[in-house]
Amino acid sequence: MRVVIAGQGYVGLPLAVRAAEVGHDVVGYDVDTVRIGLLAAGESYVEDITAERLRAVLDSGRYRASTDPADCAEYDIAVITVPTPLRDGAPDLSYVEASTELLASHLRPGATVILESTTYPGTTDEVVRPLLEKSGLTAGVDFHLGFSPERIDPGNPTWNVVNTPKIVSGINEESLARVKAFYETVVDTTVSVPSTRAAELAKLIENTFRHVNIALVNEIAMISHDLGIDVWQAIDAATSKPFGFMRFTPGPGVGGHCLPIDPSYLSWRVQRALGQSFRFVDLANDINNHMPDYVVRRLIEALNRRRRSVAGSRILLLGLAYKKNTGDARESPAVRVVQLLRQMGAEVRVADPHVVEAVHGASDLTMVKADAEELRAADAVVLLADHDAFDYDLIAAESRCVLDTRRRLTAGPTVEVI
Ligand SMILES: NC(=O)c1ccc[n+]([C@@H]2O[C@H](COP(=O)([O-])OP(=O)(O)OC[C@H]3O[C@@H](n4cnc5c(N)ncnc54)[C@H](O)[C@@H]3O)[C@@H](O)[C@H]2O)c1
Repeated sequence: MRVVIAGQGYVGLPLAVRAAEVGHDVVGYDVDTVRIGLLAAGESYVEDITAERLRAVLDSGRYRASTDPADCAEYDIAVITVPTPLRDGAPDLSYVEASTELLASHLRPGATVILESTTYPGTTDEVVRPLLEKSGLTAGVDFHLGFSPERIDPGNPTWNVVNTPKIVSGINEESLARVKAFYETVVDTTVSVPSTRAAELAKLIENTFRHVNIALVNEIAMISHDLGIDVWQAIDAATSKPFGFMRFTPGPGVGGHCLPIDPSYLSWRVQRALGQSFRFVDLANDINNHMPDYVVRRLIEALNRRRRSVAGSRILLLGLAYKKNTGDARESPAVRVVQLLRQMGAEVRVADPHVVEAVHGASDLTMVKADAEELRAADAVVLLADHDAFDYDLIAAESRCVLDTRRRLTAGPTVEVI
């Protein structure tokens, strides 16, 4: 089938490569000329897609990266994987709308359009459908429409696009059948959901669940510290329960395109449709947004014990990405930690082997390697993302003072764990 995937980011690129690998004729369309330039040159900026895999699908002629809207013509299947950010706390669907309008201009009878971007319940039916119908074709009659949320967990070595069960939905039975048939060619398992709204809500339940539980364990970590209890020992003990408990661990806050944003899509919808607040989300936002301030407070305390001030100290942050083994620095709590420390007069340096400057625009930061010289020269080192690529023996041996927000190191005279 001729497949167009609008948006070649963390979600769209892995799907496009996989679709090409199974034999579809794929156009990866994106408006970002830097990204498309890298892809066309066989350079991947998404960790889960190696340059070898990308080059193989480029060489096979089955995958093409393009910024030319004309290349989206004559699709059988179009998948929308564009950003769904917040603007002033409200959903910003402008990217979804822009890509839908482009796909509407190329819509043909019999084609299927699938929304994958995470969004509030009702978007497929109330936003995407009318824009596509401006083509003069009727959804569910002349063309098919569905929603299939992406569950990809960047950097996860076990669960990927292929083996993670894929929720599929459609605006009617025929649409669901078309959406399901397409994904059955690219993933191992599909899970049919009878309505697009239930599928949209399912994705938001998953992410709100994570967001709330991370906030819970972060609050417990702060309380435990003040009570003089090692929260990690308590979490390890609780994890021994084989049922009714799911392990979450504290950290410097949440980041990426999902957890800081998706739950607010749901609370916005609840407020808009029902006139009531979604209190769990408000509380979780409050706690998780506070975590960078808490990290800085703990750093101030650690420096204080060494009779040093933040002002004038050289601080080395390990990890700019929001998450282990990924280069995604969007909404990363590390960015907030940098800001706070700079405001206090610290000299901040950042080491992150995964962050690609051209993609993440980290150009105003002093990016360094976490080598012995850097570690020794820092008054304090803060571990924010516990990438496997860091040399933890070296960090423990060479640093004068480490604040570890991920418990990757063992607490001791020079190492403090949050
Ligand atoms: N990153 C994740 O782990 C993850 C997981 C599940 C779901 N999602 C959801 O998937 C969606 C995409 O997320 P992402 O992480 O891939 O974002 P991303 O920013 O990595 O990629 C989106 C791409 O879309 C492009 N784009 C913007 N406007 C466009 C347009 N009009 N036409 C074509 N391309 C356009 C951008 O240039 C960008 O390259 C979001 O709704 C997100 O919430 C993300």
